[in-house]
Amino acid sequence: MISKRVDNISEPETIAMAKKARELAAKGYDIISLSMGEPDFPTPDHIKNAAKAAIDANKTHYPPVAGIPELREAVCHKLKRDNKLDYKPENIVVSTGAKHSLMNTILSLVDPGDEVIVPAPYWVSYRDIITFARGIPVFVEGTLENDFKITPEQLENAITSKTKVFLFSNPCNPTGSFYNEAELRQLAKVFEKHPRIFICSDEIYEYINYVGAHYSIAQIPEMYDRTIVINGVSKGYAMTGWRIGYIAARKEIAVACEKIQGQFTSGANSIAQYAAVAALGDNLEPSKMMTAKFKERRDLVLKLVSEIKGIKTTVPHGAYYLFPDVSSFFGKTTEKGELINNGGDLALYLLNEGHVATVQGSAFGEPNCLRLSFATSNDKLTEAFARMKIALDKLK
Ligand SMILES: Cc1ncc(COP(=O)(O)O)c(C=O)c1O
Repeated sequence: MISKRVDNISEPETIAMAKKARELAAKGYDIISLSMGEPDFPTPDHIKNAAKAAIDANKTHYPPVAGIPELREAVCHKLKRDNKLDYKPENIVVSTGAKHSLMNTILSLVDPGDEVIVPAPYWVSYRDIITFARGIPVFVEGTLENDFKITPEQLENAITSKTKVFLFSNPCNPTGSFYNEAELRQLAKVFEKHPRIFICSDEIYEYINYVGAHYSIAQIPEMYDRTIVINGVSKGYAMTGWRIGYIAARKEIAVACEKIQGQFTSGANSIAQYAAVAALGDNLEPSKMMTAKFKERRDLVLKLVSEIKGIKTTVPHGAYYLFPDVSSFFGKTTEKGELINNGGDLALYLLNEGHVATVQGSAFGEPNCLRLSFATSNDKLTEAFARMKIALDKLK
């Protein structure tokens, strides 16, 4: 009855684990969730007030499909201020979250059979978004030793005559790794040899960056016209529920995204768009405060994880995830005699035994790892890592 298109969509494993955790919590267990990827802070007041004012001013009608003019202008202002990038409102399309912006972009560029190169580990939804467009995801594996980043040689070797798009997140979910300007310039040298390829640069974690300034691959003049910058307000302004994302791209691509969106949503929620205008304004203090907190937590979890034997990890330079290699526990048995075969078994064991929800790395294309979100309080993190240590120490 249901179409093959839907059959081919997998439920994000992040959501599947959260569901299991909720079931246990409903039974009365005290579950600490390190599985979801959202800031635990409330949306800043000046943003909430802008939404309230929009309601009172009856800004409640259908918005223009590509976004209200004020927000497209605000996005241009933000891209100039933060990224030294020049765009006009006609280059901007506002959508219902960056996930929707990604879907519009991939649907705009990818024909059936086109290949999309994705460095692994990758964000869960990339694979399904590409397959939904009937493209072929081509994963290029970064290694823990190289901070989970791919090299220009790996990129070159993955390119074929069918490659249409290179899709990556920088900073990266799930690894927290960050390609700096020099590394992006090296990748750009490879792209220069292959003018047909577009670069889809997902910069949703731009503000949650522990190394200082963000650099967008679109800032490299030769890449500007070929890059689709994806960003949004979810992560940097604690606005996941408002569902506002955007692209900045050359006009043909923006027009294509608008065309698709016109048939799917008729544009993003008008009240949330007015809130996003306030978010993208020049009051960056709340975002800076949140990033400082995330950095403190990053340092805390690095300390706590170093106290658990058998775990190897990189230092996340952005986003709010630790992505440790836990493969040394595979092949061990629980006190009940169950064998831990893989990351899925280990994540389930940590949930049932330690009451800590994590996500298996296979969801992100790296089965040796687990993703642990540190977007929660210091107390909860300390308790979660203590519980994980006890549970892991019991494995024989
Ligand atoms: C890498 C990456 N891109 C995009 C998104 C989607 O963000 P939004 O909430 O704006 O749809 C997420 C959310 O988890 C993400 O981790």
